[in-house]
Parts: sequence; C-alpha cells; structure tokens
Amino acid sequence: MSEIEAIRAQLLADIDAASDAGAIEALRVAALGKAGSITALLKTLGAMTPEDRQAKGPEIHALREAVTAALGARKAAMEAAALDVRLAAETIDMSLPTDTPPRGSIHPVSQVMDELAEIFADMGFAVATGPEIEDDWRNFTALNIPETHPARAMHDTFYFPDTDADGRAMLLRTHTSPVQIRTMMNQEPPIRIIAPGRVYRSDSDATHTPMFHQVEGLVIDRGIHMGHLKWTLETFLKAYFERDDIVLRLRPSYFPFTEPSAEVDVGYKQEKGRRIVGGHGDDDGHAWMELLGSGMVNRRVIANCGLDPDEWQGFAFGVGVDRLAMLKYGMDDLRAFFDGDLRWLSHYGFGALSVPTLSGGISA
Ligand code: DAH
Repeated sequence: MSEIEAIRAQLLADIDAASDAGAIEALRVAALGKAGSITALLKTLGAMTPEDRQAKGPEIHALREAVTAALGARKAAMEAAALDVRLAAETIDMSLPTDTPPRGSIHPVSQVMDELAEIFADMGFAVATGPEIEDDWRNFTALNIPETHPARAMHDTFYFPDTDADGRAMLLRTHTSPVQIRTMMNQEPPIRIIAPGRVYRSDSDATHTPMFHQVEGLVIDRGIHMGHLKWTLETFLKAYFERDDIVLRLRPSYFPFTEPSAEVDVGYKQEKGRRIVGGHGDDDGHAWMELLGSGMVNRRVIANCGLDPDEWQGFAFGVGVDRLAMLKYGMDDLRAFFDGDLRWLSHYGFGALSVPTLSGGISA
C-alpha cells in the first residue's frame, strides 16, 4: 500500500469512528490544517520533478477531496442523528390534560358574518362564495366597468403579473360584486344570495386596510323593484342592530353595475364618543351616515351573464362587514381587527358557543 493510500484508509476509518463534532473538527485539523498530514503531502509537490508531480499531484488532490467529503458527510449524519434524538425527546403526549385553560375567541368579523347569514337565511337567502383571486372580466368588465372606466383606477387594484389561460388579467378582487356574476352564470333564477368575504385594495390608514370584508346581496326574479330592495335592507338592519327605530334614506347615486343606484344612509346619534345607529337622521341630535351601496341590477350586467333582462330583474347591495362590526360593537380603529393582539381579541371576541340565532338573540 502506498503512503497516500495508507493515510486515506486511516483517515476514513477515523472519521467513521468519530463520535462527536469535536472529534470531527480535530480530525479536520489533523488532516487539512496548517500542520495537517494532507497539507504536508501537498507541500511536497513543490519539490518534486515535473514527472513525479504529474503522477502524484492528482492522487494527493483526490485524497484531499475524499477526506473533505467524508468529514462533511459524517458531520451531516451526526447532525441528523442529533435532531432525531431531540425530536424524540420533544414528543408531546396529546392526551395529557393542559395546565392552562385553552384561550381563543371568535373574531368579530366571523361573528358578524354568522349574524348576517342567520338574518338573511331567515329571508330565504343562501350564502354564495367566490375566489379572492379573480379575473378582470368578472371583477370589472361583466359588471359594466369597461377598461377605460375611471372606477378601475379608483379601486386601487392589486394585479398579478401573469394573465390566465384565456388571457384575462388576474387580480385580487376589489369587491364581492364578482360573486354576482358567478352566481348568475352558474344558477338559474330566481336567485337570492348574500356573498360575504375578503376583498383587497391598495389602501391603508385608520379606516382602510389593504384587506377588508364586504357582503354582497343579490336578488334576481321577475318583477323585482326598489320597494323590495328598501324592505330587505330595512328588515336586515333592524335585525342586525336589534332595534326597530332604524330609519333609512335612499340617496340617488351611481354605480356602473346598478341602474338606478342608491346610496343608503342610516340615522344615528353621537353618544359617548361613538355612533349609535337609530332614529331619523333629521331629528334633534341625529345625523345621517352613509352605510351601503345598492341599486337595481343594470340590464347590461344581467345580459352579460346570459340572462334576458326583459324577463329577469333584481337588486343588489354591497356593504363593509368590518364597518358593520365597528358600528355595532364600538371598535374605532379598523387596523386593530387584523393585528392579532390577544387583549383586543379577548375583549371584542365572542365565545365559541355564542352562535347567533334569531330566536336566541343575534348577538347573544
Ligand atoms: N361593489 C361596490 C364597492 O365595493 C359596492 C356596491 C355598490 C355593491 C352597489 C353593490 C351595489 O352590489 O349595488 O364599492
């Protein structure tokens, strides 16, 4: 056996037998350190004749490489084994009783969405959903917001860099209104749905967060008119705020997807620094506040979904869920909704068993 082969055999055996990281490091220094055995071999190359160097050079370099690789492999194996030991020691017995009571609460947004579903279910509405990643046809075009429409710019849309297979721009939906399109295209009228969910706009301050929640309402049937819209909103808001003196004011407005459109204001009173919904906005000490957008579904939108607007009419509305929660439960900063602060959550959150029902009390 040549000297080089002997060194290789000895080093590989030592590395194999090394029992900890310290031993590995000691071997590395002994072989590859300044005074190491392989370093010494490398130094002999300089004094060799060119022929000898050509013969020995590759052998010595190969030795260095083999030993470096073996050191690395042994070290990785040792680390993996150490991790296994640690994981085995850290195994927890899930059947053991806890020594602290479980914490957690239902987020006000979840609670309000449950309340809305309960109220509208009682009026014959189903809950519909759509994806948060939408295409620009459903989020805008089909809703009668063409490419050049200023509303597109107003929505501060988050776009994805790539289009979908049909060449449509992809985006994070800026409102829940595209669920109107999905529903009308996927099911036969009559339609009565609400669509709660997350929406996204590039906007952020005390009253705007890049992600927030809306609930959309849509009714499509024969002979639907604005009286149905007003009754539905009134009934919903009375149930939601749990008081009978909710007064609405429908103010003419404009949305591309409704015609005519109405902004809906509610009367409220300022009490102890917060707005209490109720009463006529023109009464003493009261005022109007804008609460939601609504209108009769635009004929064009109905036609875009493949329905005959001469046969089918309807109304739609959209309202901020976070806003509804703030008004009912008295939070004043929207950003706190999404901070995940346990103190806020335990203060404003709801017990897991406080399921809203019309008979038991919507917010009980
Ligand atoms: N999509 C509108 C928005 O996000 C809200 C809205 C207004 C929805 C009127 C409607 C509606 O369905 O009829 O600003």
